[in-house]
Amino acid sequence: MCGIVAYTGHKACTRILLEGLKRLEYRGYDSAGMAMVQEGVLAVRRAAGRISALEQLIGEDPLEGVTGIAHTRWATHGAPTKKNAHPHLDDTGRIGLVHNGIIENYTALKTWLQSQGKSFRSETDSEVLVNLISHFYQGNLVDAVQKALGEVKGTYGIAVVSADHPNTIVAARKGSPLLLGVGENEYVVASDASAIVEHTTSAVYLDDGEMVEITPEGFRTLTLDNNLVSKELENIEFSLQQIELDGYEHFMLKEIFEQPVSVQNTLRGRVDLEAGQAILGGLQNVAGQLSKAKRIIITACGTAWHAGLVGEFLLEHLARIPTEVEYASEFRYRNPIIEPGTVVIAISQSGETADTLAALREAKQRGALALGIVNVVGSTIARETNAGVYLHCGPEIGVASTKAFSSQLVMLALLAIELGRQRSLDQQQARELLGHLSGIPGKIEKVLAQSDQIRQVAQLYLQREHWLFLGRGYNYPVALEGALKLKEISYSHAEGLPAAEMKHGPIALINEGMPTVFIATSGSQYEKVLSNIEEVRARGGKILAVATENNAQIHKHVDHVFTIPEIPEPLSPLLTVVPLQLLAYHTAVGRDCAVDKPRNLAKSVTVE
Ligand code: M6R
Repeated sequence: MCGIVAYTGHKACTRILLEGLKRLEYRGYDSAGMAMVQEGVLAVRRAAGRISALEQLIGEDPLEGVTGIAHTRWATHGAPTKKNAHPHLDDTGRIGLVHNGIIENYTALKTWLQSQGKSFRSETDSEVLVNLISHFYQGNLVDAVQKALGEVKGTYGIAVVSADHPNTIVAARKGSPLLLGVGENEYVVASDASAIVEHTTSAVYLDDGEMVEITPEGFRTLTLDNNLVSKELENIEFSLQQIELDGYEHFMLKEIFEQPVSVQNTLRGRVDLEAGQAILGGLQNVAGQLSKAKRIIITACGTAWHAGLVGEFLLEHLARIPTEVEYASEFRYRNPIIEPGTVVIAISQSGETADTLAALREAKQRGALALGIVNVVGSTIARETNAGVYLHCGPEIGVASTKAFSSQLVMLALLAIELGRQRSLDQQQARELLGHLSGIPGKIEKVLAQSDQIRQVAQLYLQREHWLFLGRGYNYPVALEGALKLKEISYSHAEGLPAAEMKHGPIALINEGMPTVFIATSGSQYEKVLSNIEEVRARGGKILAVATENNAQIHKHVDHVFTIPEIPEPLSPLLTVVPLQLLAYHTAVGRDCAVDKPRNLAKSVTVE
């Protein structure tokens, strides 16, 4: 949530900062701003709305300099107005700050600062922080930042500049990611590697409680209590091309179409077909503990939570390990029972989701073996787990998660097969499943080929404000995911349910022409799903079904059919989700919605 980019070096940096902001816009996009030291004073430009509004403003009223800070905001404290946009200056106008996160004790600090004579222009917690820094400032910026952060409760990733130190940036983090891209006599601080990769692939990842002082001549990393720390330079593992549209109209569409490759990348090197084994190197150092797991708790949010629900089916079915799936936000406050043998798996695309991170910490603190299934390399969740596996599905930019979901399913299937092999799954069964997993990319291609047909069907329902998504067993979580995709990007109300639950209330919603999406693929519950279809049909509802391709009979029962190739039931969610992603996408485009930047949302939810 929110994006920070800051630069110091030898180049005029206005364009560098603007381009960086555009790469971070998916993290928050309700207002934006930039500050630079110009002729001894801090010059600031801020605009409500998208980065393009800031760009226009800077076009009319330019900023020039070689050191600057910039921010794109997702509002927490205060409305998304120009006044509340970052950077914020202290009341002397000599210190500027951009901030991600939340200062929890800002009200008390504000009252105290006011009693000390400080005045405020915005409603934000961030302006309180910059004035606190200013309060402690006596010529040494690092010292002032350390003292101010010592008083703060909450989370932050910050970058600070001062008119007194025109070529210096001081950045610090606690609970909100920040990294430093290291070039030749130039440095880029950002909350996300995508704003850095254009300039350098060498980076230093700050850990919680660390800060960095940067000038064009070099940088030094310190703890917040002023001890020098030596940090390794790490390689950012993705390329610029991966974060560009590459001819697609939207990142979401690009990422849906990338799935044959991203799934392949998740599988790469992890399948030993001959032995009937999954190879999960990242879990090697906990293999002993894992083999003795008595109970698994999966914790996650949103789409990752839906992947976890599929994981529950996989782990119980293939490995016979009792598994529960918990919303991360509920888990941590529930006084959870963690007994010896409990393994907690946090699933997160970004690796920065605040609730998931907090749940992970809670689990660790209670003695669980804490594992992670994460996409973003070097992210906080990845760093804090006892062990974990990366998805390697490449950067996901669209706010609606698509390719991360399929890769999460692949990873959970590999894990279930591996744990199953230690328990109830024989070699032949494992070989068969692994063989089918390896064939998934080609089968996803076949589903993607129906994109145009799905677009045409979506056109028929653009005016509909209410949808139901129904599935059973392995495909009940996919129904939830289909509904989430549709609502978050098209703003149509959609509810996902286990199909049989419909009769217990939601059936009252069905009226003439209301669209209901059924996942009606062949498998153990097909006949039951067919009965549920009839129940909707009898009430005049319109039915869109995802069915197995050789099922000619389904056409008699439903209005529209999207097909998937034959696949064993445990792996079917990997295919059934694809038409639902496309349906959501085409509906959102048809309704003229901002597909990659839906209202009120941000890619990575780093506040609780
Ligand atoms: O980065 P994470 O996987 O931890 O994110 C979890 C959710 O915030 C995320 O899946 C969200 O629900 C997406 N917008 C869904 O498309």
